[in-house]
Amino acid sequence: MRKFIQRALNKLSKLDSQQIQHLIMDLASENENLEIVLDSMTDGVLAADTEDRVILCNKAAERLLPLVPGDIYDRLLWEVIEDLDISQFVQTCLRTQDTVEDREFTLSGPGGNTRILSISILPLVQAGKVQGSILHMQDISEKRWREARLRRAESLASLTTLTAGVAHEIKNPLGSIGIHIQLIQRMLKNNKSVKEDDIGTYLEVINEEVDRLNRIVVDFLFAVRPMDIHPVVGCLNCLLRDLMGFMQYELEQAGIQSVVDLEDSIPHIMMDEKFMKQAILNMVKNAMNAMPEGGRLVVSSRKKGDEVILRIIDDGIGMSSEVMGKIFEPYFTTRDFGSGIGLTLVYKIIKEHGGDISVVSQEGRGTTFTLSFPVPQSGQHLIDSTHGDSRSPGDSAQWEVWENEDEV
Ligand SMILES: Nc1ncnc2c1ncn2[C@@H]1O[C@H](COP(=O)(O)OP(=O)(O)OP(=O)(O)O)[C@@H](O)[C@H]1O
Ligand SMILES: [Mg+2]
Repeated sequence: MRKFIQRALNKLSKLDSQQIQHLIMDLASENENLEIVLDSMTDGVLAADTEDRVILCNKAAERLLPLVPGDIYDRLLWEVIEDLDISQFVQTCLRTQDTVEDREFTLSGPGGNTRILSISILPLVQAGKVQGSILHMQDISEKRWREARLRRAESLASLTTLTAGVAHEIKNPLGSIGIHIQLIQRMLKNNKSVKEDDIGTYLEVINEEVDRLNRIVVDFLFAVRPMDIHPVVGCLNCLLRDLMGFMQYELEQAGIQSVVDLEDSIPHIMMDEKFMKQAILNMVKNAMNAMPEGGRLVVSSRKKGDEVILRIIDDGIGMSSEVMGKIFEPYFTTRDFGSGIGLTLVYKIIKEHGGDISVVSQEGRGTTFTLSFPVPQSGQHLIDSTHGDSRSPGDSAQWEVWENEDEV
């Protein structure tokens, strides 16, 4: 349509009055169509020219933003916005020519109603040239409330699982204590048959069960209490090298070949070394437990987009999908002497670091835990260059293992 109008404008002097009338009608109709589309949108749009003066405002923008009364066209964009915070934000962005996406503002309306607006400021581009700015706004109140409701439901569900886990865990030691107290009572009733050795054995069992209860309570508190995490910019590769160096002997003794496969251009991330070490150690120990006959353990780091990816890969016994679905639940264990709290803590620590964790596994083939951490803007240039790239072609192949399989 635009090309047609451009061609017509070039020939304007040669057009007769009827043709000019048609051209104007076409233009008006195109303009009307655009207005209808813009006014039917639920997102608000305000556009300004290169001098930051308003050239367009759709109905949703009038509804969402408190605008000054009267004609707003040709006025400076920030001057037509009544809310002081938004107005100042817009002025600063336009002055600095920053593109800002999804900045949230809370507006209090009449009757104490609050609304959350997400505002973006984008360049208005025509034929590859910036011709002004677009202020795009969205009412995300409903979305935020839904998320909050979901979070509440999730935390209630995890509390239920956790409490059920604790109840299940304490049932056995309590039962055992009860039985041994009854045995002692029976012995004491029948004075003649009191044997000091037997009472000693029973008391020992009771003592062990009390210890077990104590450990359950301590683990429980550790799992539910907010962690006192203090992340600072740190070198993940350095931590991995230290940790794997420390574990080297134990791994060798268990017949496990360990490969530390680190990319040397890894940016630093925000981490609390103590907690991060604990999380990785828990996963390395799990991998060791999964390879009772020995095997191969690969610990890799890579940069992928804005994230650092850490993988812990073993070729041990693996897991069924049923087990895989439960491993982050507190007290879930398939090991005789496992407490089932290791991965619950790993999950919590990784989340506290703003990271993510997923797992792929195949019974009889092994397991890959993948952790991702955001790279802070200031960490982009802090690259680990203390060591060369220790990758080998064989290890890269391992890196791709099960890339396409189901993740949990
Ligand atoms: N690398 C792995 N390979 C196979 N199974 C695994 C692996 N890592 C975890 N699992 C499974 O997940 C379960 C839960 O792991 P988690 O670390 O939470 O507890 P645990 O190792 O059993 O006990 P602990 O609390 O002492 O660490 C394990 O019992 C095991 O079944
Ligand atoms: Mg464990």
